[in-house]
Order: sequence, then structure tokens, then C-alpha cells
Amino acid sequence: MTYRVAVLAGDGVGPEVVAEARRAVDVLGLAFEWVELPWGSAWYHEHGRMMPEDWEDQLAGFQAVLLGAMGDPSVPDHVSLWGSILELRQRLDLWANVRPCRLLEGIPTPLADYGPAEIDILFVRENTEGEYAGVGGRSHRGLPGEVGIEVSVFTRAGVERVVRYAFELASTRRGLLTSATKSNASRFGYVLWDEVVEEVAAEFPGVRVERVLVDALAARMVRSPDSLDVVVASNLFADILTDLGAALQGGMGMSASANLAPDRPGTIGVFEPVHGSAPDIAGQGIANPAGAIWSASLMLDHLGEPEAAQRLLKALDDVCRDGPRTRDVGGAATTREVGAAVAAALSAG
Ligand code: NAI
Ligand code: MG
Repeated sequence: MTYRVAVLAGDGVGPEVVAEARRAVDVLGLAFEWVELPWGSAWYHEHGRMMPEDWEDQLAGFQAVLLGAMGDPSVPDHVSLWGSILELRQRLDLWANVRPCRLLEGIPTPLADYGPAEIDILFVRENTEGEYAGVGGRSHRGLPGEVGIEVSVFTRAGVERVVRYAFELASTRRGLLTSATKSNASRFGYVLWDEVVEEVAAEFPGVRVERVLVDALAARMVRSPDSLDVVVASNLFADILTDLGAALQGGMGMSASANLAPDRPGTIGVFEPVHGSAPDIAGQGIANPAGAIWSASLMLDHLGEPEAAQRLLKALDDVCRDGPRTRDVGGAATTREVGAAVAAALSAG
């Protein structure tokens, strides 16, 4: 069968890193049809939108989206994000955002006492509601009394599905689920979150669950990352914690993600590196393609090709260990040189 993948390379370094992810997947010998969709900030300047109005129809028939990054200094960030990735996640109801935070051998971490054996956390981010539900407003614009209100929305159904999925993942790993919360200061949404965690826990007697206030959790990620296995967190909390996680695993360029609807097998998934468009280094050919390549491996898992996914991840592992590496992770190679090395490792293996 031929897998149909929509490529939303997007802005900045997006196209640079996505090209290397595609190149690696193409070496695997599976049948892929890549369809490039030119959506993003350039599209916005031409059409006044980040994606066409009928984007949902245009994505019908694809099994996956491989996305680079969206955002450009010429478009306000809330416009570019809400017109692209936040819209994709919410409208397609891709409610779980899975982000492996694992330090690969050969990649420097800022934590002096830790190495690859100790940094292996799997983040499960609630991806459609919470602080990014899109509810709120502004009034009295420009006046001294101007207000901006952003409402955090937590629903029982929304929390329950992501928490249950995180428990399932924890039961296949080291059996520890850490729930990030802030139910001391936020008395409504996060208290509901905690209650749901406790209820779902009863279904998973083999998983140890702990509730940790998100600020303390941030400190713990730095002090003892080895004490964490699977972390489930709200949209905002996981957004922040996974950038910290990316730093622990060598930097923004290393980190991968999958946007999934695990309750609807066969639904389209969106796969993207965690980083943004990195305008500061765009166009220089020096962006690290590892996060994008890793995301392509997550995509292969989603497509039901776990062996190919493992092969791709192993090739990435090998290249990180043996080089070449880009400069953000201590090397001097270009994006293309790293991509070519991963492709070569795949051909050799
Ligand atoms: P960013 O992730 O683009 O960059 C943060 C830092 O990490 C920069 O110093 C950058 O050079 C570095 N970096 C990022 N990717 C890298 C890579 N592959 N290799 C080496 N270094 C890398 O985040 P920033 O600067 O906050 O946002 C830039 C734009 O991207 C904004 O418009 C923002 O809204 C957008 N954005 C888009 C996301 C998406 O499409 N999923 C996610 C995050 C931000
Ligand atoms: Mg983020």
C-alpha cells in the first residue's frame, strides 16, 4: 500500500529539516506519496490566512501530516499559530501530543551528572483544551482599564481520555505516571484534573501514580530526571515542560512530537519537531534535523510500520553517537550532512 503524507514544511527552518526527514523515510523502501502543501506565512501574505478555508477537505485521504514549523516575524505569532497548528490539533481533535524526551548517546546535555541512561521521559500533552482552548476576549481596547481574559477550559471527557492514554503508555514502560498539576492555586480546572487522575488510576493497579505541582516538577526535571517515566500534563504545562525537556536532551533541535487521536485508529496524525521556525538560524542550512527525523519515526509507528520506525530511530541514534552533528549539539555539520548521514546509515543497515 502507498502511504499518503501531506507535507506542511511551513516557515523558517521547517522546510530545511523536513527535507531531511523525507529523505530518510524514502530510503526505507516503503511506498510513500508526499504531497507538498504551501501553507504558512508566505501563504498568509498572499491569501490572508495561514491555510486555505477548505484545509480539512484537502487533508482528507491523507494518513499523516509531516509538519516543519509555522511562524514568521512578519506575522503575529498568535495569528500564525491559531491559523495553523492549533487549528489542526483542535479541529482534527488530535487530543494527545506525545513527546519523547530521551537523551541520545553522543549528544551533550547541560546536566553535569546525567547521561542517556538517566534521561528518558515520555510526555503526554493534552492537546485540544486547557489554557489553549481559545476561549476569552479583550475589551476596552486602548483604554487604561483594558482587559484581556484567557479562560482555561478543562472537561471531564477531555482530561479522562488523555490521562487514560498516559496510564496505558506508563504500563508499557517503567510503570510510573507523574501528573503535573497546580491544584493548590487553581481551584477548579486542576482539581477536576486531579480527581480524574485518581479515578482512572483505579483501572491501572500496575502503574504507580503521583501528583506533582508543576513548578516543583520543573525543578525535579533538572535535579533528578531519572525519577520520571511518563508525565501527563495540560496543554500549557506540557508546552513549557517539554521545552525544558528538549534542553535536557540537547536542545530544541532534538525534540520530536506526534499529535494523535488514539481513540480513533486510522485517523490522520500530525508529526512535527517540537521547535518552531527558528528565524534566527533559518536559511543558513545549520538547523538540526534530528527532531524532524525522529518525528518521522513516530509517523511510521502511527502508519503501522513499527520496524521501519525502529530502523529510522536506530539510524538517528547511530549518527548522533558517531557524528556528524550540527553545531547546536556540539558538531560543525550542516543540516544536509546530518540528513545524508542518517540516510547512509539506513542504506548500510
Ligand atoms: P524556536 O523553537 O523556533 O527557537 C528557539 C531557539 O531554538 C532558537 O535559538 C533557535 O535557533 C533554536 N532552534 C530551534 N530549532 C532548532 C533546530 N532545528 N536546530 C537548531 N536550533 C534550533 O522558538 P521561538 O524562537 O520561540 O519561535 C520562533 C517562531 O516559531 C515563532 O513564530 C513561534 O510562534 C513559532 N513556533 C512554532 C511552532 C510550531 O510550528 N510547532 C512551535 C514553537 C514556536
Ligand atoms: Mg512549544
